[in-house]
Amino acid sequence: MSIYLDNAATSYPKPEPVYQAVMHAMREIGASPGRGGHRRSLEAGRIMFQAREAAAALFSVPDSSRIIFTHSATEALNMALRGTLAPGDHVVTSSMEHNSLARPLHQLEKQGVALTIVQAGPDGVIDPVDVQRALTPRTRMIAIGHVSNVSGTIQPIEQFSAIAHAAGALFLLDAAQSAGSLPINVVSAGIDLLAVPGHKGLYGPQGTGLLYAASHIPLRPLLAGGTGTNSTSEDQPEGFPEGFEVGTHNLPGIAGLKAGMEFVMQQGVAVIGEHERGLVSYAIEKLQLLKQVTLHTPLETALRAAVLSFTVAGKDSSAVAFELDRRFDIAVRAGLHCAPRAHRTLGTFPGGTVRMSPGWFTTREDIAMFADAVVQCL
Ligand SMILES: Cc1ncc(COP(=O)(O)O)c(C=O)c1O
Repeated sequence: MSIYLDNAATSYPKPEPVYQAVMHAMREIGASPGRGGHRRSLEAGRIMFQAREAAAALFSVPDSSRIIFTHSATEALNMALRGTLAPGDHVVTSSMEHNSLARPLHQLEKQGVALTIVQAGPDGVIDPVDVQRALTPRTRMIAIGHVSNVSGTIQPIEQFSAIAHAAGALFLLDAAQSAGSLPINVVSAGIDLLAVPGHKGLYGPQGTGLLYAASHIPLRPLLAGGTGTNSTSEDQPEGFPEGFEVGTHNLPGIAGLKAGMEFVMQQGVAVIGEHERGLVSYAIEKLQLLKQVTLHTPLETALRAAVLSFTVAGKDSSAVAFELDRRFDIAVRAGLHCAPRAHRTLGTFPGGTVRMSPGWFTTREDIAMFADAVVQCL
């Protein structure tokens, strides 16, 4: 039996309506939204609108036109950073970030944006006191991930947004590991910019994501090109959302994402999160019995989400993952998980960790089989 425990990379399987929505968009619609007046194009436009409305409902966004569809969380993060920052601005980020946030910030630093990387504790928790201390009169943004993709640590995001706003700065949240499994309300959590992958906890297809930008943010488009609007002008239209979605949309992907978000709302984000965290707790219970295994995830349940990292004494993490795959058909991920500084923080650099990440379709039986397989890899 094949067991998939790599939902932090991309979720699998997807709910059945997601597959159906992708096929429906390809077979029955075929056309692109905003690119024609015929009924297929109008139907494509309706699907786009409904997908935006679903995302708005999921994240309590007051105006769905402020949601921009992207092809990944990485593209959304780049859009948020490059669309708001300018040389001379200062940004506060942390040592726990994924390369999709850390690398564009590093590039921007070379172009004159000042950067402070706040060091998280050994459990991956970023102390708001350190974030407060890092502020300068030029701080334009605090940019932080909600949940670490290495340790599963949940950050106190409301405290970060309060610090940002008191300093007149923006708060950018990378929700790659939390969207769909932790409730996110952009208004009550004070999130100005929210970057979300469509293909992880929202159960959409790969190649989908979104950015929410609050209405007070004057965002500059990342790309220029055809939008299906203002065709007489050579200038890039900057109206939301069309000005930011250049080129032909990934309609099959967005149709699938819409079905994924509807599925998530039907189950309930809190219910999904509870299921996944329960499975991680069960895995911890089992792995804690093994003296060769070290866990790199907070043991306090309130501090962790649906990601569990561990190492095995005397064994390379990639060798463990390889064995789990080849001998037991269990998919996990090994290595640095695109977050080298997080590993330095957790003390797992350069070897990395084995990461298992359950999803909504993972069962307790899967976890029991995974734990038994780990025992056989020791
Ligand atoms: C914390 C974090 N941020 C950003 C990303 C990037 O997401 P995407 O693959 O959709 O670009 C990931 C993906 O693994 C992630 O774990």
